[in-house]
Amino acid sequence: MAAIQAVKGMKDLLPGEIELWQKLEGELRSLMAQYGYGEIRMPVLEKTELFKRSIGEVTDIVEKEMYTFADPKNRSLSLRPEGTAQCVRAALEHGLLHRQTPRLWYYGPMFRYEQPQKFRYRQFYQLGVEAFGIQTPDLDAEQIIMMYALWQRLGLTDEVTLKINTLGTPSCRKAYREALVTYFEQHVDALDEDSKRRLNTNPLRILDSKNPAMADVIKGAPKVSDYLGEAAKAHFETLLALLDKADVPYQVEPTLVRGLDYYTLTVYEWVTDTLGAQGTVCGGGRYDGLVEMIGGKPTPACGFAIGIERLLGVLEGKGTFKAQPLDAYLVLVDSQAMAQGVVIAKQIRTQCPDLKMLAHCGEGSAKQQFKQADKSGALVALVVGEQELNQQQVTVKFLREDKDQQVVPMEQLGKFLAEHL
Ligand code: HAM
Repeated sequence: MAAIQAVKGMKDLLPGEIELWQKLEGELRSLMAQYGYGEIRMPVLEKTELFKRSIGEVTDIVEKEMYTFADPKNRSLSLRPEGTAQCVRAALEHGLLHRQTPRLWYYGPMFRYEQPQKFRYRQFYQLGVEAFGIQTPDLDAEQIIMMYALWQRLGLTDEVTLKINTLGTPSCRKAYREALVTYFEQHVDALDEDSKRRLNTNPLRILDSKNPAMADVIKGAPKVSDYLGEAAKAHFETLLALLDKADVPYQVEPTLVRGLDYYTLTVYEWVTDTLGAQGTVCGGGRYDGLVEMIGGKPTPACGFAIGIERLLGVLEGKGTFKAQPLDAYLVLVDSQAMAQGVVIAKQIRTQCPDLKMLAHCGEGSAKQQFKQADKSGALVALVVGEQELNQQQVTVKFLREDKDQQVVPMEQLGKFLAEHL
Protein backbone atom coordinates (compact mmCIF):
# COMPACT_ATOMS: atom_id res chain seq x y z
CA MET A 1 0.00 0.00 0.00
CA ALA A 2 1.29 3.48 -0.77
CA ALA A 3 2.44 5.41 2.29
CA ILE A 4 0.33 8.38 3.34
CA GLN A 5 2.16 11.67 3.45
CA ALA A 6 1.51 14.97 5.19
CA VAL A 7 -0.75 17.57 3.57
CA LYS A 8 1.13 19.81 1.10
CA GLY A 9 2.52 22.93 2.78
CA MET A 10 2.24 21.46 6.30
CA LYS A 11 5.35 20.30 8.11
CA ASP A 12 6.24 17.93 10.91
CA LEU A 13 8.71 19.38 13.39
CA LEU A 14 11.19 16.74 14.44
CA PRO A 15 13.60 16.23 17.33
CA GLY A 16 16.79 17.94 16.25
CA GLU A 17 14.95 21.02 14.98
CA ILE A 18 12.32 21.39 17.71
CA GLU A 19 14.94 22.37 20.32
CA LEU A 20 15.53 25.68 18.55
CA TRP A 21 11.77 26.28 18.49
CA GLN A 22 11.56 25.59 22.21
CA LYS A 23 14.45 27.92 22.94
CA LEU A 24 12.83 30.70 20.91
CA GLU A 25 9.47 30.03 22.58
CA GLY A 26 11.20 30.46 25.96
CA GLU A 27 12.60 33.84 24.86
CA LEU A 28 9.17 34.95 23.59
CA ARG A 29 7.41 33.85 26.76
CA SER A 30 9.90 35.76 28.88
CA LEU A 31 9.53 38.89 26.70
CA MET A 32 5.73 38.76 27.04
CA ALA A 33 6.02 38.49 30.82
CA GLN A 34 8.48 41.39 30.91
CA TYR A 35 5.91 43.63 29.20
CA GLY A 36 2.98 42.44 31.32
CA TYR A 37 1.07 40.66 28.54
CA GLY A 38 -1.13 37.70 29.49
CA GLU A 39 -1.42 34.52 27.41
CA ILE A 40 -4.69 33.53 25.75
CA ARG A 41 -5.20 30.17 23.98
CA MET A 42 -7.93 30.02 21.40
CA PRO A 43 -9.32 27.23 19.21
CA VAL A 44 -8.00 26.77 15.68
CA LEU A 45 -11.55 26.65 14.25
CA GLU A 46 -13.95 29.59 14.12
CA LYS A 47 -17.16 30.47 12.31
CA THR A 48 -16.24 31.58 8.78
CA GLU A 49 -18.25 34.76 9.24
CA LEU A 50 -15.74 36.04 11.81
CA PHE A 51 -12.92 36.19 9.27
CA LYS A 52 -15.08 37.49 6.43
CA ARG A 53 -16.27 40.39 8.56
CA SER A 54 -12.89 41.30 9.99
CA ILE A 55 -10.16 40.55 7.45
CA GLY A 56 -12.37 41.78 4.58
CA GLU A 57 -14.31 39.92 1.87
CA VAL A 58 -12.11 41.38 -0.88
CA THR A 59 -8.71 40.27 0.41
CA ASP A 60 -6.43 37.44 -0.71
CA ILE A 61 -6.92 35.66 2.59
CA VAL A 62 -10.72 35.54 2.47
CA GLU A 63 -11.09 35.19 -1.32
CA LYS A 64 -8.51 32.48 -1.90
CA GLU A 65 -6.67 31.26 1.16
CA MET A 66 -9.10 30.00 3.79
CA TYR A 67 -9.60 26.36 4.69
CA THR A 68 -13.39 26.52 4.87
CA PHE A 69 -15.75 23.58 5.21
CA ALA A 70 -19.19 22.67 6.51
CA ASP A 71 -19.51 20.80 9.80
CA PRO A 72 -21.97 17.87 10.07
CA LYS A 73 -24.78 20.36 10.71
CA ASN A 74 -23.82 22.32 7.61
CA ARG A 75 -22.41 25.32 9.48
CA SER A 76 -19.51 27.02 7.71
CA LEU A 77 -16.30 26.86 9.75
CA SER A 78 -12.76 27.93 8.87
CA LEU A 79 -9.33 27.10 10.17
CA ARG A 80 -7.97 30.38 11.50
CA PRO A 81 -5.81 32.21 8.94
CA GLU A 82 -4.70 34.66 11.67
CA GLY A 83 -5.35 35.42 15.34
CA THR A 84 -6.46 39.06 15.64
CA ALA A 85 -10.12 38.57 14.76
CA GLN A 86 -10.49 35.60 17.05
CA CYS A 87 -8.67 37.37 19.86
CA VAL A 88 -11.25 40.17 19.56
CA ARG A 89 -14.03 37.56 19.47
CA ALA A 90 -12.68 35.87 22.61
CA ALA A 91 -12.07 39.14 24.49
CA LEU A 92 -15.64 40.21 23.73
CA GLU A 93 -17.15 36.85 24.53
CA HIS A 94 -15.49 36.75 27.96
CA GLY A 95 -16.21 40.37 28.78
CA LEU A 96 -12.51 41.25 29.00
CA LEU A 97 -12.95 44.55 27.20
CA HIS A 98 -15.46 46.04 29.62
CA ARG A 99 -13.59 45.31 32.83
CA GLN A 100 -10.06 46.27 31.91
CA THR A 101 -7.76 47.19 29.06
CA PRO A 102 -6.37 43.77 28.34
CA ARG A 103 -2.98 43.13 26.82
CA LEU A 104 -2.90 39.63 25.41
CA TRP A 105 -0.60 37.31 23.49
CA TYR A 106 -1.18 34.00 21.76
CA TYR A 107 0.98 31.43 20.03
CA GLY A 108 0.01 28.69 17.64
CA PRO A 109 -0.61 27.46 14.12
CA MET A 110 -2.44 29.49 11.46
CA PHE A 111 -3.68 28.14 8.12
CA ARG A 112 -3.63 29.76 4.70
CA TYR A 113 -4.07 28.02 1.37
CA GLU A 114 -1.15 29.79 -0.31
CA GLN A 115 1.24 28.39 -2.93
CA PRO A 116 3.84 26.76 -0.68
CA GLN A 117 7.48 27.80 -1.01
CA LYS A 118 10.38 28.31 1.37
CA PHE A 119 9.10 30.29 4.39
CA ARG A 120 5.56 30.29 3.01
CA TYR A 121 3.50 27.40 4.31
CA ARG A 122 -0.14 26.36 4.54
CA GLN A 123 0.25 25.76 8.25
CA PHE A 124 2.62 28.17 9.95
CA TYR A 125 3.08 29.46 13.49
CA GLN A 126 2.53 32.96 14.75
CA LEU A 127 3.10 34.70 18.03
CA GLY A 128 0.52 37.48 18.19
CA VAL A 129 0.11 40.39 20.56
CA GLU A 130 -3.10 42.41 20.92
CA ALA A 131 -3.93 45.27 23.31
CA PHE A 132 -7.29 46.97 23.73
CA GLY A 133 -8.84 50.17 25.01
CA ILE A 134 -5.94 52.58 24.49
CA GLN A 135 -6.21 55.25 21.82
CA THR A 136 -2.89 57.05 22.29
CA PRO A 137 0.26 56.30 20.25
CA ASP A 138 2.26 55.31 23.34
CA LEU A 139 0.67 51.87 22.93
CA ASP A 140 1.75 51.59 19.28
CA ALA A 141 5.23 52.72 20.35
CA GLU A 142 5.45 50.24 23.21
CA GLN A 143 4.62 47.31 20.96
CA ILE A 144 7.27 48.36 18.45
CA ILE A 145 9.81 48.88 21.24
CA MET A 146 8.91 45.41 22.49
CA MET A 147 9.72 43.91 19.08
CA TYR A 148 12.95 45.85 18.94
CA ALA A 149 13.85 44.46 22.37
CA LEU A 150 13.31 40.99 20.92
CA TRP A 151 15.68 41.70 18.03
CA GLN A 152 18.22 42.93 20.58
CA ARG A 153 17.84 39.81 22.72
CA LEU A 154 18.33 37.64 19.65
CA GLY A 155 21.18 39.69 18.18
CA LEU A 156 19.17 40.50 15.03
CA THR A 157 19.02 44.31 15.00
CA ASP A 158 21.15 44.41 11.83
CA GLU A 159 19.04 41.76 10.09
CA VAL A 160 15.60 43.41 10.31
CA THR A 161 14.25 46.81 9.29
CA LEU A 162 11.05 48.46 10.47
CA LYS A 163 8.90 49.85 7.64
CA ILE A 164 6.09 51.98 8.94
CA ASN A 165 3.17 53.98 7.55
CA THR A 166 -0.17 55.40 8.59
CA LEU A 167 -3.43 54.66 6.79
CA GLY A 168 -5.25 57.50 8.52
CA THR A 169 -8.69 57.28 10.08
CA PRO A 170 -11.64 55.89 8.08
CA SER A 171 -12.66 59.44 7.16
CA CYS A 172 -9.19 60.30 5.72
CA ARG A 173 -9.35 56.99 3.89
CA LYS A 174 -12.54 57.92 2.06
CA ALA A 175 -10.88 60.80 0.19
CA TYR A 176 -7.77 58.71 -0.39
CA ARG A 177 -9.82 55.84 -1.78
CA GLU A 178 -11.47 58.15 -4.32
CA ALA A 179 -8.06 59.48 -5.39
CA LEU A 180 -6.81 55.92 -5.84
CA VAL A 181 -9.81 54.89 -7.95
CA THR A 182 -9.35 57.94 -10.21
CA TYR A 183 -5.62 57.20 -10.59
CA PHE A 184 -5.95 53.48 -11.27
CA GLU A 185 -8.80 54.09 -13.73
CA GLN A 186 -6.36 56.17 -15.72
CA HIS A 187 -3.88 53.25 -15.67
CA VAL A 188 -6.31 50.40 -16.00
CA ASP A 189 -4.30 48.71 -18.76
CA ALA A 190 -1.39 48.23 -16.37
CA LEU A 191 -3.52 46.34 -13.83
CA ASP A 192 -3.75 42.58 -13.56
CA GLU A 193 -7.12 40.79 -13.38
CA ASP A 194 -7.24 40.75 -9.55
CA SER A 195 -6.56 44.46 -9.37
CA LYS A 196 -9.11 45.33 -12.06
CA ARG A 197 -11.70 43.44 -10.06
CA ARG A 198 -10.69 45.23 -6.86
CA LEU A 199 -10.61 48.68 -8.43
CA ASN A 200 -14.09 49.52 -7.23
CA THR A 201 -14.49 47.12 -4.30
CA ASN A 202 -11.16 47.59 -2.50
CA PRO A 203 -8.66 49.82 -4.34
CA LEU A 204 -6.28 49.93 -1.35
CA ARG A 205 -5.60 46.23 -1.94
CA ILE A 206 -4.06 47.07 -5.32
CA LEU A 207 -1.20 48.77 -3.46
CA ASP A 208 -0.54 45.48 -1.68
CA SER A 209 -0.10 43.56 -4.96
CA LYS A 210 3.14 41.59 -5.19
CA ASN A 211 2.91 41.44 -9.02
CA PRO A 212 6.26 42.88 -10.22
CA ALA A 213 4.65 44.00 -13.50
CA MET A 214 2.56 46.47 -11.50
CA ALA A 215 5.41 47.88 -9.38
CA ASP A 216 5.75 51.09 -11.46
CA VAL A 217 2.06 51.93 -11.56
CA ILE A 218 1.83 51.34 -7.79
CA LYS A 219 4.86 53.55 -7.20
CA GLY A 220 3.16 56.41 -9.02
CA ALA A 221 -0.13 56.12 -7.11
CA PRO A 222 -1.33 58.91 -4.77
CA LYS A 223 0.18 58.69 -1.28
CA VAL A 224 -1.98 58.40 1.81
CA SER A 225 0.19 61.05 3.53
CA ASP A 226 -1.43 63.67 1.26
CA TYR A 227 -4.89 62.78 2.56
CA LEU A 228 -4.35 62.69 6.32
CA GLY A 229 -6.45 64.75 8.72
CA GLU A 230 -4.92 66.57 11.71
CA ALA A 231 -5.64 63.82 14.25
CA ALA A 232 -4.10 61.10 12.07
CA LYS A 233 -1.02 63.25 11.38
CA ALA A 234 -0.57 64.00 15.08
CA HIS A 235 -0.89 60.31 16.00
CA PHE A 236 1.78 59.34 13.49
CA GLU A 237 4.14 62.17 14.38
CA THR A 238 3.92 61.44 18.12
CA LEU A 239 4.57 57.77 17.45
CA LEU A 240 7.63 58.50 15.31
CA ALA A 241 8.93 60.95 17.94
CA LEU A 242 8.60 58.25 20.62
CA LEU A 243 10.50 55.78 18.44
CA ASP A 244 13.24 58.37 17.90
CA LYS A 245 13.54 58.91 21.65
CA ALA A 246 13.62 55.16 22.28
CA ASP A 247 16.37 54.74 19.62
CA VAL A 248 14.31 52.43 17.44
CA PRO A 249 15.28 52.97 13.79
CA TYR A 250 12.53 52.93 11.13
CA GLN A 251 11.79 53.79 7.51
CA VAL A 252 8.54 55.53 6.62
CA GLU A 253 7.11 53.58 3.66
CA PRO A 254 4.25 55.56 2.07
CA THR A 255 2.92 52.60 0.01
CA LEU A 256 2.74 50.12 2.89
CA VAL A 257 -0.91 49.07 3.39
CA ARG A 258 -0.78 45.44 4.73
CA GLY A 259 -2.96 42.62 3.43
CA LEU A 260 -5.85 42.80 5.89
CA ASP A 261 -8.67 45.35 5.82
CA TYR A 262 -9.09 46.07 9.52
CA TYR A 263 -6.17 48.47 9.96
CA THR A 264 -6.55 52.16 10.80
CA LEU A 265 -3.76 54.68 11.44
CA THR A 266 -0.48 52.87 12.20
CA VAL A 267 0.67 49.94 10.03
CA TYR A 268 4.13 48.40 10.00
CA GLU A 269 6.22 45.44 8.96
CA TRP A 270 9.61 44.20 10.09
CA VAL A 271 11.38 42.95 6.98
CA THR A 272 14.64 41.18 6.28
CA ASP A 273 16.54 40.53 3.09
CA THR A 274 18.04 37.29 4.43
CA LEU A 275 15.02 35.08 3.52
CA GLY A 276 14.59 35.73 -0.19
CA ALA A 277 11.05 36.50 -1.38
CA GLN A 278 9.32 35.94 1.99
CA GLY A 279 11.04 38.76 3.84
CA THR A 280 8.28 39.94 6.18
CA VAL A 281 9.01 38.54 9.61
CA CYS A 282 6.40 40.48 11.58
CA GLY A 283 3.44 42.69 10.73
CA GLY A 284 1.03 44.75 12.74
CA GLY A 285 -0.70 47.99 13.45
CA ARG A 286 -3.76 49.65 14.88
CA TYR A 287 -7.31 48.44 14.24
CA ASP A 288 -9.58 50.86 16.08
CA GLY A 289 -12.73 49.78 14.18
CA LEU A 290 -12.48 46.01 14.51
CA VAL A 291 -14.11 45.46 17.91
CA GLU A 292 -17.21 47.29 16.74
CA MET A 293 -17.21 45.30 13.48
CA ILE A 294 -17.28 42.08 15.51
CA GLY A 295 -20.18 43.29 17.63
CA GLY A 296 -18.65 45.22 20.55
CA LYS A 297 -18.61 48.87 21.57
CA PRO A 298 -16.06 51.05 19.79
CA THR A 299 -12.71 50.09 21.33
CA PRO A 300 -9.30 51.16 20.06
CA ALA A 301 -6.77 48.36 19.65
CA CYS A 302 -3.29 47.64 18.39
CA GLY A 303 -1.20 44.52 17.81
CA PHE A 304 1.27 42.56 15.72
CA ALA A 305 2.16 38.99 14.80
CA ILE A 306 5.53 37.36 14.20
CA GLY A 307 5.93 34.50 11.70
CA ILE A 308 7.87 31.94 13.70
CA GLU A 309 9.29 29.90 10.78
CA ARG A 310 10.61 33.11 9.25
CA LEU A 311 12.12 34.34 12.50
CA LEU A 312 13.81 30.96 12.95
CA GLY A 313 15.04 31.22 9.35
CA VAL A 314 16.75 34.53 10.14
CA LEU A 315 18.23 33.08 13.33
CA GLU A 316 19.54 30.01 11.54
CA GLY A 317 21.10 32.18 8.84
CA LYS A 318 22.91 34.10 11.55
CA GLY A 319 24.08 30.86 13.18
CA THR A 320 24.53 32.22 16.71
CA PHE A 321 21.27 30.98 18.23
CA LYS A 322 21.80 27.35 19.15
CA ALA A 323 20.03 24.89 21.39
CA GLN A 324 21.70 21.93 23.12
CA PRO A 325 19.33 18.98 22.64
CA LEU A 326 21.01 16.60 25.07
CA ASP A 327 23.58 17.02 27.84
CA ALA A 328 24.49 13.45 28.66
CA TYR A 329 24.28 9.85 27.45
CA LEU A 330 24.42 7.08 30.04
CA VAL A 331 26.73 4.26 28.93
CA LEU A 332 26.47 0.95 30.80
CA VAL A 333 29.68 -1.00 30.28
CA ASP A 334 28.95 -4.48 31.66
CA SER A 335 26.09 -6.85 32.28
CA GLN A 336 25.88 -5.93 35.97
CA ALA A 337 25.46 -2.23 35.20
CA MET A 338 23.13 -3.02 32.32
CA ALA A 339 20.87 -5.06 34.56
CA GLN A 340 20.46 -2.03 36.82
CA GLY A 341 20.56 0.67 34.10
CA VAL A 342 17.19 2.27 34.81
CA VAL A 343 17.92 2.34 38.55
CA ILE A 344 21.29 4.05 37.99
CA ALA A 345 19.58 6.51 35.63
CA LYS A 346 16.95 7.25 38.30
CA GLN A 347 19.72 7.95 40.83
CA ILE A 348 21.50 10.30 38.40
CA ARG A 349 18.26 12.16 37.62
CA THR A 350 17.63 12.63 41.34
CA GLN A 351 21.15 14.09 41.72
CA CYS A 352 20.88 16.23 38.56
CA PRO A 353 17.23 17.21 38.01
CA ASP A 354 18.00 19.64 35.16
CA LEU A 355 20.29 17.30 33.22
CA LYS A 356 18.96 16.30 29.79
CA MET A 357 20.11 12.68 29.70
CA LEU A 358 19.41 9.75 27.43
CA ALA A 359 19.95 6.46 29.30
CA HIS A 360 20.98 3.48 27.21
CA CYS A 361 18.39 0.70 27.13
CA GLY A 362 18.55 -2.76 25.58
CA GLU A 363 21.65 -4.70 24.58
CA GLY A 364 24.86 -3.31 23.11
CA SER A 365 28.60 -3.34 23.63
CA ALA A 366 30.32 -0.36 25.27
CA LYS A 367 31.80 0.49 21.86
CA GLN A 368 28.33 0.61 20.26
CA GLN A 369 27.02 2.69 23.14
CA PHE A 370 29.84 5.22 22.81
CA LYS A 371 29.04 5.48 19.10
CA GLN A 372 25.42 6.23 19.94
CA ALA A 373 26.46 8.72 22.62
CA ASP A 374 28.54 10.51 20.02
CA LYS A 375 25.71 10.52 17.47
CA SER A 376 23.20 11.78 20.04
CA GLY A 377 24.89 15.17 20.29
CA ALA A 378 25.37 14.80 24.07
CA LEU A 379 28.22 16.78 25.61
CA VAL A 380 29.32 14.00 27.97
CA ALA A 381 29.02 10.25 28.34
CA LEU A 382 28.29 9.17 31.89
CA VAL A 383 29.92 5.76 32.18
CA VAL A 384 28.98 3.17 34.77
CA GLY A 385 30.57 -0.30 35.08
CA GLU A 386 31.33 -2.69 37.90
CA GLN A 387 33.81 -0.43 39.68
CA GLU A 388 31.59 2.65 39.53
CA LEU A 389 28.64 0.58 40.75
CA ASN A 390 30.58 -0.74 43.74
CA GLN A 391 32.01 2.68 44.63
CA GLN A 392 28.81 4.68 43.92
CA GLN A 393 30.68 6.70 41.29
CA VAL A 394 30.23 7.82 37.70
CA THR A 395 32.96 8.32 35.12
CA VAL A 396 32.40 11.48 33.12
CA LYS A 397 33.86 11.34 29.61
CA PHE A 398 33.83 14.61 27.63
CA LEU A 399 32.68 13.98 24.07
CA ARG A 400 33.08 17.43 22.52
CA GLU A 401 36.07 18.85 24.38
CA ASP A 402 39.63 17.75 24.77
CA LYS A 403 39.48 17.22 28.54
CA ASP A 404 40.53 14.21 30.64
CA GLN A 405 37.75 11.96 31.86
CA GLN A 406 37.01 12.14 35.58
CA VAL A 407 35.59 9.80 38.18
CA VAL A 408 33.01 11.62 40.28
CA PRO A 409 31.16 10.37 43.38
CA MET A 410 27.44 10.03 42.65
CA GLU A 411 26.42 12.58 45.28
CA GLN A 412 28.75 15.21 43.75
CA LEU A 413 27.69 14.61 40.15
CA GLY A 414 25.17 17.48 40.06
CA LYS A 415 27.72 20.03 41.26
CA PHE A 416 30.44 18.65 38.96
CA LEU A 417 28.27 18.80 35.84
CA ALA A 418 26.94 22.26 36.71
CA GLU A 419 30.55 23.47 36.77
CA HIS A 420 31.70 21.65 33.63
CA LEU A 421 28.79 21.83 31.16
P1 HAM B 1 0.09 38.96 8.63
O1 HAM B 1 1.02 39.97 8.06
O2 HAM B 1 -0.90 38.37 7.74
O3 HAM B 1 -0.62 39.67 9.87
O4 HAM B 1 0.93 37.79 9.28
C1 HAM B 1 1.93 38.05 10.25
C2 HAM B 1 3.19 37.28 9.93
O5 HAM B 1 2.91 35.89 9.80
C3 HAM B 1 3.82 37.65 8.60
O6 HAM B 1 4.62 38.81 8.75
C4 HAM B 1 4.68 36.42 8.32
O7 HAM B 1 5.91 36.48 9.05
C5 HAM B 1 3.85 35.31 8.90
N1 HAM B 1 3.13 34.60 7.80
C6 HAM B 1 2.01 34.98 7.17
N2 HAM B 1 1.65 34.08 6.22
C7 HAM B 1 2.58 33.09 6.28
C8 HAM B 1 2.76 31.84 5.57
N3 HAM B 1 1.92 31.42 4.63
N4 HAM B 1 3.84 31.09 5.89
C9 HAM B 1 4.70 31.47 6.86
N5 HAM B 1 4.57 32.63 7.56
C10 HAM B 1 3.53 33.42 7.28
C11 HAM B 1 -1.54 39.06 10.68
O8 HAM B 1 -1.77 37.88 10.66
C12 HAM B 1 -2.16 39.99 11.68
N6 HAM B 1 -3.10 39.23 12.48
C13 HAM B 1 -1.09 40.64 12.54
C14 HAM B 1 -1.68 41.56 13.58
C15 HAM B 1 -1.91 41.28 14.88
N7 HAM B 1 -2.11 42.79 13.36
C16 HAM B 1 -2.62 43.29 14.48
N8 HAM B 1 -2.49 42.36 15.41
